[in-house]
This record gives sequence, C-alpha cells and structure tokens, in this order.
Amino acid sequence: MSDHDLAGDGMRLAVLREAALKNGFVPAESLEIPGDPARQAVGGLIFASPLMSLNGKISCQDCHLDQFGSADGLPNAIGVGGTGHGVARMRSGGGILPRNVLPFWGRGSKGFDTFFWDSRVRLVDGRVISQFGDRAPSNDPMIVAVHLPSVEVREMIADNPQVRDGLVDESVDIAAQIHQTIARRFGADATIGQQLARTYGVRRDAMEFAQISDALAQFIRHRFRIQPTRLHRFVFDRGPISRTELNGGILFYGRGRCAACHNGPYFSDFESHAVAFPQVGFGKNGFGTDEGRFNVTLNPDDRFLFRTPPLYNVTKTSPYSHSGSIVRIEDAIVSHFDPLRLVDTKKMSARARADLYQRLGVAARETLPAQLTDQEVRELVAFLRMLDFDPNASVPSTGAMLQRAR
Ligand code: HEC
Ligand code: HEC
Repeated sequence: MSDHDLAGDGMRLAVLREAALKNGFVPAESLEIPGDPARQAVGGLIFASPLMSLNGKISCQDCHLDQFGSADGLPNAIGVGGTGHGVARMRSGGGILPRNVLPFWGRGSKGFDTFFWDSRVRLVDGRVISQFGDRAPSNDPMIVAVHLPSVEVREMIADNPQVRDGLVDESVDIAAQIHQTIARRFGADATIGQQLARTYGVRRDAMEFAQISDALAQFIRHRFRIQPTRLHRFVFDRGPISRTELNGGILFYGRGRCAACHNGPYFSDFESHAVAFPQVGFGKNGFGTDEGRFNVTLNPDDRFLFRTPPLYNVTKTSPYSHSGSIVRIEDAIVSHFDPLRLVDTKKMSARARADLYQRLGVAARETLPAQLTDQEVRELVAFLRMLDFDPNASVPSTGAMLQRAR
C-alpha cells in the first residue's frame, strides 16, 4: 500500500516517520565504516577455517551460519567436539555453550561498540573495557571482541583437565600464547598465509594475531553491514507500508514502549535490561541460571541484566533471548509483559521457579510494555519484518565472497 492507498492515515504515516527519525533511525549506508576489500576477503577465509581453533576442528562459521541469519538456529551453541550444523550439531555431543549465538548484523559499524549478551567488551569514553584490562589488544572494540572466541573454554577449546588447569582463569598471557600459535598456523597455510602476507605486507613466518583479528573484524563488518530495509524505503523514499505494519510501527514507538530500549540506529540502546524470559539450558552460572551482566561487573544491581538485542533481521534469528528459550517471535514479545503465560510453573523444578521469580522481580523495575492483545503482537511482528534486509538489495553470501577471494 502506498501513501495514496492509506490516504485516511496520512497523519499516522507522518507520525511513524517522525518517531523513527526521532529515535535514531538513519540511512543504512551512513553506518558503514569502509574497509579494504583484500583484507575483508582474507578475513572471510579465516572465518571459515578450522585453523582458528586450537584443536584445528571448529571454525567461526560452524556456529555463525548464513542460513540462520549468522546465528546457529540452536537454543545454546555447541562448541568444540560438535560436528555438523543446526540440529545435527545438537545431537553430535559437543560441549554446550550456555548462551544463544548472536547474529552479526551491524556489528562493528558506526556506533556499534558494545559486544556480547553481557556487554563484556564495550567502548567507554574512547577506551575499550574488557577482560584484557589495561592490555586490550586494540582500541577498536570489534577487534577486541574477535579475540575472545578462540580462547574461551568449550567454545573453541576443549574442556579437559589439562586445558582447565592452564586456562582456568583464562589469563591474558595464556590467551596471547594461543593467539600466537594460531597466527603462526595461518602464516604457514599455503593459501591464507600467502594472502595475509600480501595484504598486510608481513612475512609469513612473522604473522601475528593482530593481522588475523584485523582481517576477521574487517570481514564481519563488511559482510554483515546494515543493508536497506523496507523501513528505510518507507521513511526515506516514501516507500509502501501496509495498514498492519503501520499499526505495528505506531505501537512500537508509542504505547508498546519498545523504543524505550530498542532505539538508536540498531534498535538497541546498548544498555543492559531485564526481561523475564523463561530460561532453558545449562546457564552461564550453572543449574539453568545466567546472571548476565553481573558476571562481568559483580555489581548486585546488574543481576539478570542483558544487552538490549538489536532488531535487524530479527524475524530470521529464532530462537530468541540469551538462553534461546523462545522459538516464536510473538512469544518473545509476550515475554516482555506477560512472561508467566509461556511457562507452567508447576512443571518447573523448584530451582528454576526460584530463578524465574527473582528475574520477575528485577524486570518489574523496568519500563516494560503494557499488556498488548494478540492482534497487537501480530502487528508488532509485521513491523519487525520491515527491519529484514530487503532481498532485492544484493548482498553476496559468504560462499560467494570466498569464491571471489580465491
Ligand atoms: C561454538 C559456537 C561458536 C563459535 C565456534 C564461535 N562463536 Fe561467536 N558467538 C557464539 C555465542 C554463543 C555468542 C554469544 C556469547 C555471549 O554473548 O556470551 C557469540 C558471540 C559472538 C560475537 C558478539 C556479537 C555481538 O552481538 O556482540 C562475536 C563478535 C563473535 N561471536 C565472533 C566470533 C568469531 C570471530 C568466531 C571465530 C573466531 C566465533 N565467534 C566463533 C558462538 C560461537
Ligand atoms: C526495558 C527495555 C526493553 C523494552 C521496553 C523492550 N525490550 Fe525487547 N528486549 C529487551 C532485552 C534486554 C531483551 C533480551 C533479554 C534476554 O535475552 O534476557 C529483549 C529481547 C527482545 C526480542 C528478542 C530478540 C532476540 O534476538 O533474542 C525481541 C523480538 C524484542 N525484545 C522486541 C521488543 C518489542 C516488540 C518491544 C515492545 C513491545 C520490546 N522488545 C520492548 C529489552 C526491552
């Protein structure tokens, strides 16, 4: 439907456009940080290479898959020891990572400086705050973030007694050793080593993790950059919108209060908040619990808080929430204002119930949406679909980029 068809809604069309702009919505291209195509291409090879893991068996791409919107389609990620992708991977017996995989859209683009569910890498006043402390390997939080997966136990490193002894504190020195080993391996690889040497002007036997992490960051930044969506077309080019989408948009910025947290160019305030999603899986803190931001700050006020998720392509990244407990996007929205509708507390273990009640208490302090009807939830989903990248805008698949790089 065009503005013309929705003539009677002229005022509401203007209200939605204005609300989007006021809440930080900007043209997709304005978020891009340009990079170097040769470095992006070699970064793509590294992303797909199992040399990235200490045991040489798992690549970044094994969890961050194109067909699941760069996440893995599983509630909790399966790390080292797992084989195959998607559900096959779940049955294969790898170590379970206690968090839902995050997709990559917009990561490291302009203003996207806060990483992971618990914001354990973030830029504050121009300084990167992370577990590296004063020894952050870069001033670029994206580059710091891509240093972590290869040194996290169970993610890309096996959880066995020897590794545990050495890595139990995941110390900065041990991380540096692992990174050095990985960098030398890439240097020695016939294809990747040669390309790295050429694009960075470094001898293959002197390869450092600085080059590896830069290439990875450049690849992710470029491959998963924000592309125009139907909302961009609607706001900036008077593109079409249906009445359902319009209703959803007005709710999103209005009575639904979604933009209280899902605001800015990426639909995230990059702050930590509590929504009492049902929690499944092992949980970062064990026994099905994940204390979120508290794990990083140890400040009791931060218990059960998680980074507001950005919402581009969100209709494609089921399951939802930090623990991947929610399959339908409608239910992800319902969890914000009526979490108990989704669980049968009688069937939960006493511990799980206690955990949920604690999280409900924390969520009660938030400015959460008021009750919405099922019809309104459907309208919100229709609006969220407008944040999917427009399939007509061409984005090469990772595979196509790799072909080109060869
Ligand atoms: C075993 C599965 C797995 C593998 C392999 C993996 N990741 Fe992840 N990745 C995850 C999970 C799970 C999260 C969310 C973790 C969290 O927030 O605590 C994540 C989050 C991220 C994030 C943060 C995204 C955001 O929104 O803040 C980045 C960046 C990232 N991974 C990069 C990589 C890179 C680069 C590699 C390869 C070196 C890699 N990952 C390998 C599972 C994986
Ligand atoms: C108080 C801040 C806040 C408000 C208001 C809010 N959200 Fe959220 N939203 C969050 C947080 C935080 C999460 C992730 C929580 C977690 O995983 O434990 C989330 C998760 C989601 C998810 C799942 C995303 C994913 O990738 O897992 C969707 C979809 C979503 N919100 C949509 C909405 C909509 C639609 C509204 C308005 C009806 C809304 N939110 C209002 C903070 C908020």
